[in-house]
Amino acid sequence: MAVSTSITTTGPSLALSEEQQMIQQAARDFAQREIVPIAAEHDESGEFPLNTIKKMGELGFMGIEIPEDYGGAGMDTISYVLAMVEIAKADVSHSTIMSVNNSLFCHGIYKFGTEEQKQRFLVPVASGEKIGAYSLTEPMSGSDAGTMKSRAVLSEDGSHYIINGTKSWVTSGPVADFIVLFTITEPEKGHKGITAFLIDTTQPGFVRGKKEPKLGIRASATSEIRFEDYKAPVDSVLGEPGKGFKIAMTVLDAGRIGIASQALGLAEAAYEATVKYAREREAFGQPIGSFQMTQQKIADMKTRIEASRMLIYNAALAKMRNAETGERYTTQASMAKLFASETAMFVTHAAVQIHGGMGYSKELPIERYFRDAKITEIYEGTSEIQRLVIARNELGLR
Ligand code: CAA
Repeated sequence: MAVSTSITTTGPSLALSEEQQMIQQAARDFAQREIVPIAAEHDESGEFPLNTIKKMGELGFMGIEIPEDYGGAGMDTISYVLAMVEIAKADVSHSTIMSVNNSLFCHGIYKFGTEEQKQRFLVPVASGEKIGAYSLTEPMSGSDAGTMKSRAVLSEDGSHYIINGTKSWVTSGPVADFIVLFTITEPEKGHKGITAFLIDTTQPGFVRGKKEPKLGIRASATSEIRFEDYKAPVDSVLGEPGKGFKIAMTVLDAGRIGIASQALGLAEAAYEATVKYAREREAFGQPIGSFQMTQQKIADMKTRIEASRMLIYNAALAKMRNAETGERYTTQASMAKLFASETAMFVTHAAVQIHGGMGYSKELPIERYFRDAKITEIYEGTSEIQRLVIARNELGLR
């Protein structure tokens, strides 16, 4: 689809296409009807929301940009952003599971997979029948992703690799059916010795480790995973041996647009609740919204939210151009993720403050928004890493 037909300028504002408005409305209706009523309960219990995730699959939300031939909804990146915002507005945990499935799993296989790999791994995950995950991080390798310790050794007959090692912080690790794994095949080559594999979690040698007890996004299950002599057939290599680091980084560019959209949805939810509260709650005989100290917060919250939206649309359009030109959109994705995640933190912090005691109480979702916001500044590259990526690209240091 040509970029110009996907988001057009009509007068002074950006207008969404009919198709984009339809998915936005469908995601909004579903999220408000099915996710909002269960979000607090799942946050409290930490139970994975399998039922609603399956329904999201049926609606096409788990593979939005993947062509229909491969089980997806065949829509564009702006549509993906719009749907993510609506789901995150209702519950960030659901949007985390959706983002990893769409961007970190489906996008990578669609871009780098063989036809056989697409049929086996992409079709069931993009259609929402199975759940996909992405595993790069290790206990001693987070921001410095090239320093992993896990290994894949080619068997003597050359038919398969034997994988050993521990990976950590795997979103959907406790439930994933398939995982894109990054591990070392040639240790002496640094990041050029990293290879991506498609892992079937039903196979022997794959072990799910402890589930992480987390501050926020508590219904999104996160865990360690272990490989104990897991046999990966040579045809489960994604892309080519030694190309894993580039694949990991390319896929993270897409993922960061998803996390930025999630942060935007969360910020919008906190903002809307806060405006309503500031109009209704009275102190000193007036609505608290009439006080300038409240107004300053409201103005800064709204401005940062709208700036985030523009940066996210900018990154989404750059990603759509990438499909045609191959030009990287790393900087745009990092700027969107950096700004939107810091906005989510800023907005939820102000939301708690304006709500006062009620912002601290579990009777309202405000404290959950505040806890859920923090992860957006950490996963898929911390704010420090986003700044490093943007500055390196601007200075031509890489
Ligand atoms: N696209 C394509 N190629 C890229 C790239 C990109 N975005 N970024 C880097 N590369 C390439 C470089 O061009 C270079 O290639 P050559 O060797 O051919 O020159 C190669 O990758 C190495 O690049 P660098 O020298 O820049 O690598 P580095 O070791 O300095 O690290 C980094 C760069 C940006 C810090 C990177 O390590 C990084 O992004 N770290 C953060 C990792 C991260 O986001 N982790 C989160 C994991 S997912 C998660 O959060 C869990 C979950 O389930 C949600």
